[in-house]
Amino acid sequence: MLPHYTVLKLSDLLSTHGEDVTRQILSTFYSPNNKDVDNFIKEKAIIFDEQSFAKVHLVFTQYKGTQVLVGYYALANKSFVIKAGVNKTSTAKISQSLRKRIARFACLDKDTNQFIVTAPLIGQLGKNYNFKDLITGDILLEYACDTVREVQSLTGGKFVYLECEDKPFLIDFYTRNGFVNFGKRYLEYDEKDDLSGTYLIQMLKYLK
Ligand SMILES: CC(C)(COP(=O)(O)OP(=O)(O)OC[C@H]1O[C@@H](n2cnc3c(N)ncnc32)[C@H](O)[C@@H]1OP(=O)(O)O)[C@@H](O)C(=O)NCCC(=O)NCCS
Repeated sequence: MLPHYTVLKLSDLLSTHGEDVTRQILSTFYSPNNKDVDNFIKEKAIIFDEQSFAKVHLVFTQYKGTQVLVGYYALANKSFVIKAGVNKTSTAKISQSLRKRIARFACLDKDTNQFIVTAPLIGQLGKNYNFKDLITGDILLEYACDTVREVQSLTGGKFVYLECEDKPFLIDFYTRNGFVNFGKRYLEYDEKDDLSGTYLIQMLKYLK
């Protein structure tokens, strides 16, 4: 039987328990495969959340009589660009029907012939490897998409997107969960410490 999960906003945890207890809870998180995900929750999550650069959502479940942090995701309001016409040299996997859907939610920049789409970004997503068998990535990602659906039920919009390292495991994980590769973004100078490679693969999903 699947465990029962509770999703808490970091801001609610902070206002209920204060910063010291919250930091202690966040310090139980451990992600050995992704320094960016690990550092974010310990070093940046509170400040990003307080300043509303991103909103952090923590997933808990019951384990040996206590609530443990099993994963988290961070959402931000951002925008991405995508070529309006088909680019045959690109590695993007956008079908014509998806391109038409994107067009309905986009502004067309006629100078560059690019669609500009404002959409929620899943900026971070990770399981806590101290309790890695208590949640699957699929469930965690579905919680992130559900939160986006909730937001979009109030604001409109249908797309969610993310940017991940170009690793087969990650591309397979997101593809299996309905995301489609639509481009790449080169890393900013300050992103190079915690991320491998020189660019990130951008993937989007049309939420039903
Ligand atoms: C992405 C994630 C949520 C998917 O969860 P999942 O489908 O349940 O997969 P698992 O965590 O069981 O990982 C499966 C395998 O991939 C490996 N793996 C996980 N993240 C990886 C990464 N970023 N790079 C390389 N390998 C990774 C795991 O070590 C595991 O290897 P094993 O089978 O040899 O033990 C989870 O793997 C995770 O939290 N990864 C680290 C954070 C991360 O990379 N997030 C994506 C940011 S875009």
